[in-house]
Amino acid sequence: MIDYQEILDGIASNCLTATEKGKIATYIPELSKVDDSKFGIHLVDNSKNNYSAGDSDELFSIQSISKVLSLGQAMSLVGEDLWKRVDVEPSGDPFNHLSLLEMENGIPRNPLINAGAIVVADILISNLENPKLEFLNYVRELTNDNSINFDIEVAKSEKETGYRNYAAANLLKSYGNLKNDVETVLDFYFHQCSLKMSCSQLTKAFYPFMNKGVCQQGKTFLTVRQEKRINALMLTCGFYDEAGEFAFEVGLPGKSGVGGGIVALLPGKYCVATWAPGLNAKGNSKLGMEALEKLTTATAQSIF
Ligand code: DON
Repeated sequence: MIDYQEILDGIASNCLTATEKGKIATYIPELSKVDDSKFGIHLVDNSKNNYSAGDSDELFSIQSISKVLSLGQAMSLVGEDLWKRVDVEPSGDPFNHLSLLEMENGIPRNPLINAGAIVVADILISNLENPKLEFLNYVRELTNDNSINFDIEVAKSEKETGYRNYAAANLLKSYGNLKNDVETVLDFYFHQCSLKMSCSQLTKAFYPFMNKGVCQQGKTFLTVRQEKRINALMLTCGFYDEAGEFAFEVGLPGKSGVGGGIVALLPGKYCVATWAPGLNAKGNSKLGMEALEKLTTATAQSIF
């Protein structure tokens, strides 16, 4: 039997003493305040056994990890119609690049780059009465945890410096691929990205993606087909222009955020989240990626 706890303890002790930690994101000023010495990891297996090490219960800004959760909610609400407005191809570009969006007439390459997630936000706004609250409630229900909340300071901070997202939203609007106001959509998007969660809460939120759409409490959030599709998107697009490297080194579907979090999962087996605020040159958590490579190597468990 695999001793997950022993493996996580080894990974955490390596990461907590690492000297090359990567660089904290500063383009959202509020994120630059985070302590770069943090490291947390939490794993839940298919029998709901939990293993953790380091700062696994500390809250951090989940940023782009939220794009998977908003996508899940939007797919439940509008089904296949979503794909008329967003494609499902990897971009091979950084998360905030705009050139493909212009070349492809306002249809974002996939829902996990910023432009795609902004279209998903627009879809949620059109289909929910109180979008921010209903999205927050969706995440609270997925995790069975009502303490989860937005970080208003982070949302405000991103709004003040969100020039590229304003550019993306305006470009989408010019192509008719945004139905609501740019301000309304970005207000929602900045709030969704500001969600504060811990590694342990993230593994609960992503449990349905490794468990055929069913959360730990037994409620079904996604169909099996939707779960398959979201995992395919995480594998091919979850790490932007480093998706190939993540598949190559780690071999799991996953999603990163510029707050330094990563969630990854092995369908039917386990869901794991890491947090290490320092990012590599591609904007993904440096130590988080290294930790997950060690996990799939030590356990010999990946999708490949
Ligand atoms: O839109 C942004 O730039 C941020 N709210 C999220 C970016 C992000 O997390 C990219 N992920 N690695």
